Amino acid sequence: MNAPVMQGLNLNTPSYVKNPKLIAWVADMAALTKPAAIYWCDGSEEEYQRLCQQLVDGGTFKKLNPAKRPNSFLACSDPSDVARVEDRTYICSEQKENAGPTNNWMAPADMRKLLQTGKDGEKALFDGCMKGRTMYVVPFSMGPLGSHIAHIGIELSDSAYVAVNQKIMTRMGKAVYDVLGVDGAFVPCVHTVGAPLEAGQADVKWPCNKTKYIVHYPETREIWSYGSGYGGNALLGKKCFALRIASNMGRDEGWLAEHMLILGVTNPQGKKYHVAAAFPSACGKTNFSMLVPPEAGFAGWKVTTIGDDIAWVKPHADGKMYAINPEAGYFGVAPGTNMHTNPNCMRSLDKNVIFTNVALTDDGDVWWEGMEKDGGGLPDHLIDWQGKDWTPAIAKETGAKAAHPNSRFTVAATNNPALDPEWDNPNGVAIDAFIFGGRRSTTVPLVTEARTWMEGVYMAATMGSETTAAAVGQMGVVRRDPFAMLPFCGYNMSDYFQHWLDMEHKLEESGHTLPKIYCVNWFRKGDDGKFVWPGYGDNMRVLKWMIDRLEGTATGSENGFGVSPAYAEINWTGLDFSQAQFDSVTSLDKGAWKQEFALHDELFTQLAYHLPKALVETKTQLEQRLTA
Ligand code: GTP
Ligand code: SPV
Ligand code: MN
Repeated sequence: MNAPVMQGLNLNTPSYVKNPKLIAWVADMAALTKPAAIYWCDGSEEEYQRLCQQLVDGGTFKKLNPAKRPNSFLACSDPSDVARVEDRTYICSEQKENAGPTNNWMAPADMRKLLQTGKDGEKALFDGCMKGRTMYVVPFSMGPLGSHIAHIGIELSDSAYVAVNQKIMTRMGKAVYDVLGVDGAFVPCVHTVGAPLEAGQADVKWPCNKTKYIVHYPETREIWSYGSGYGGNALLGKKCFALRIASNMGRDEGWLAEHMLILGVTNPQGKKYHVAAAFPSACGKTNFSMLVPPEAGFAGWKVTTIGDDIAWVKPHADGKMYAINPEAGYFGVAPGTNMHTNPNCMRSLDKNVIFTNVALTDDGDVWWEGMEKDGGGLPDHLIDWQGKDWTPAIAKETGAKAAHPNSRFTVAATNNPALDPEWDNPNGVAIDAFIFGGRRSTTVPLVTEARTWMEGVYMAATMGSETTAAAVGQMGVVRRDPFAMLPFCGYNMSDYFQHWLDMEHKLEESGHTLPKIYCVNWFRKGDDGKFVWPGYGDNMRVLKWMIDRLEGTATGSENGFGVSPAYAEINWTGLDFSQAQFDSVTSLDKGAWKQEFALHDELFTQLAYHLPKALVETKTQLEQRLTA
């Protein structure tokens, strides 16, 4: 209990915190990072309002017009700190092979010198990094509080922006300590913006550091994040914990941590199916999870949201796979969202929202590209995400975007009018189908059903996608993104493939039918460079075909890659989409697939260590069928 406390700094531990390990760790971290004060978050509404007001007073938040957007705020980041930084993200396992060739790696001992202890007379990055700032102690649960499936994390952060976002994104607050008790386990997460304040020095509205490290120690289940205040770099419950650390827990304990949305789809007879879908960052998970079926032809069909970004999937003794959403909120992409593409999302954003890097209207509301389609056209004037004047003329001349392409909203799941009644069920929902899909302007057809679990895993493992603004780096280049987990798998990707393959046998033993696996692509483009497939709500037409397949009412046809729908098997009511258009999004081009398989080869060469042989054999068979 009697942890060493820094001279002159009061730990301020609340009486309800009774975990000596936690208290000692907070004391150690305070001694290392040297904050001016420590504040233990209780997760109350009063606290949220107080911290938001503090962020307004400090210039980080702008309060939006309460008549337009009640209880909502806009934060605009430093222009250099707008997305995840994959090249600064590390998996520091003891053995390099366990991080695998797709992750940056450094030996834990070396990383600890760099971050914690210093070396060769050089100061460690975390030494004094919180000087002049408050250290927030943020207790959170990933998954329903106290559920057998949930895990607790404690994030220490010198960012109030992080604390208030965590309140929305997770089950955050005092009640976590009841679950933690005296000897409960937690994942320690340390975060700093890396911008210590000297005495008398004025703060900036978005402190951060050019140097960034997003570090995971998988064996000791620790997260250390330095230099960024943004999203996945800083809200450590999300990608760092719920994917990179949790994928390690899942491997050890026989479950899966996935970059997947979870939805419920109910047919007019009231029968409900559950689908989990993995699309890479900014490739449509939030949108698909909130889908509104077309009005014509889909009367009585309903889609409900369980999760929009992350799923923890566990095989159960009844032979089914159950999925929960470990999060409690959405940190979703703003641009492209409007009443036509995603009405449920727009309604979720009516109030109680934190916006990051969108534009500000003259009447104190928010705006982003895509909103012009809601009838108003382009606004005459905005303040863009960088604080500059924006007009349609300026945009035309300079191409300046009003909102950053990776601008986002943070909102509680309970704001979503399409929230599934089971979203909070600690046992999760039984998954009937997995969907994998990338952003591909060519080559990959609209929808294919894998004929076997093996071929489904192959499709997911070799999936490619064009890069987006969700990560810093070049946009629009095709890269392999296995299972949409390339930036998030916390261990060797080939071992992860084997873990997925092993699920088949785990479930088969129970005699239950495995979930079907589908591969989709909403993003094929025509010669005019435009998307051919209307997407969004019309994706229901594809989802309905999948349900028909589950029910055994659609036959489909073999296309070499798997099973695909015949034109006549899709419900086209209310949509003018010709057979020729359908062909242009479903065709398989032999030449393109030869090149595609060459890219699969490249991936398999990169992943040769521990690569399951069965995947290589599957490739040979598929290649023969597709390019013969
Ligand atoms: P992360 O939060 O980064 O993991 O992204 P996500 O997979 O949840 O992506 P999201 O649903 O936010 O969509 C990202 C972008 O793709 C937005 O600009 C959407 O408008 C656009 N988008 C989503 N679904 C579709 C679709 O079916 N067709 C087209 N053309 N665009 C889509
Ligand atoms: C993603 O990039 O996949 C996101 C946003 O969902 S972030 O939280 O920044 O990772
Ligand atoms: Mn994501």
